Amino acid sequence: MFSKRPRLLPALALLLLCAGGCALDTGDGSRFAPEKNPSLSQFYAGRFSLGAAVEPAQLETAEGKLLGWHFNSLVAENAMKPLELQPAEGRFDFSGADRIVAFAQRHGMKVRGHTLLWHERTPEWFWQGADGRPASRRLLLERLRAHIHATVGRYRGRVYAWDVVNEVIDPAQKNCLRDDNWFQRVGPDYIDWAFRFAHDADPSARLFVNDFETTNLDKRECLLWVVKGLRERGVPVHGVGHQMHISIDSPGAREIDETLGKFAALGVENQITELDISFYRSPGQRLPGSESELLARQGARYEELFRVFLAHADVTAVTFWGISDANTWLVRGRFAGRGDKPLPFDADQQPKPAYWGVLRALSISGVAMSKPAQK
Ligand code: GLA
Repeated sequence: MFSKRPRLLPALALLLLCAGGCALDTGDGSRFAPEKNPSLSQFYAGRFSLGAAVEPAQLETAEGKLLGWHFNSLVAENAMKPLELQPAEGRFDFSGADRIVAFAQRHGMKVRGHTLLWHERTPEWFWQGADGRPASRRLLLERLRAHIHATVGRYRGRVYAWDVVNEVIDPAQKNCLRDDNWFQRVGPDYIDWAFRFAHDADPSARLFVNDFETTNLDKRECLLWVVKGLRERGVPVHGVGHQMHISIDSPGAREIDETLGKFAALGVENQITELDISFYRSPGQRLPGSESELLARQGARYEELFRVFLAHADVTAVTFWGISDANTWLVRGRFAGRGDKPLPFDADQQPKPAYWGVLRALSISGVAMSKPAQK
């Protein structure tokens, strides 16, 4: 357990000293002491919660220590997806998710739940009916209800927000909805049902539609239209999750600002749910410049982004998609070997210019620096 008692004066002095970026820790795992640097979430405590995505195996490592010190919110990177939670019908495996929730409780952190419905990582059995035939609409809705009730019910009161549906928008479709199994086999109302089931299971949970590239104009119009429709039908949707897997050079701060404003005007909460800033504009296109130039630009970009978030009272949480550059989806699988470094802490869990950029945004905006930080 780490104490996060406010230490604003030393933190301010450190921020000034390290304005250009510095790493104070030794990198020696046994002596790893993240508390030498100001806790990000402590700094932002007057404004919004700051979280990170985590796998259960990271909890007891140096990254877990970093997590406990800098963040006050967690999300499971994979452990709460349908395939992980219910690999066979009626056989739930909550072991990984339970460890994450228990860690959060021990450290006084909030938990975001991710995700109840997605076109990926849904087990094959979900789609199969009797005698090898495709599952009917009725069976699919019953399975969806059972999955959501078991999952949201288990963490009722411990997971404060759920990404109920993930990546359901496709602006290339006439009705704006992704043409996936859910849409084809159930019809467009599967989204309404998912939200209603989640709300039944925990009426106090905040319920989100989560998606990527929400700043893309066509996609944004679609998402606005879908969310508006849900609200008009009385479906309990409370917010929009903007994944925000972005690059150092796009989308622009103005587009992000405008996007947040449009959803706020609809009366929904905005959360940034999967933030990382890549050195790549597209998978094969690395931005020009040396590594130290890219790190500095990334620091400025994080600062710019957080200033936009701070300008929106409706932004209630910002979650990074990972803890440090040692372990993120952008250095694994098809992205392995590209040398991407998208997060505020480097592969040795040391602060990068990105970390100082996040802190600088708050000191410059003056929003929460003057308020006593509270855990
Ligand atoms: C999407 C999903 C996340 C994660 C990332 C990349 O954004 O919402 O759960 O899988 O892709 O790993």
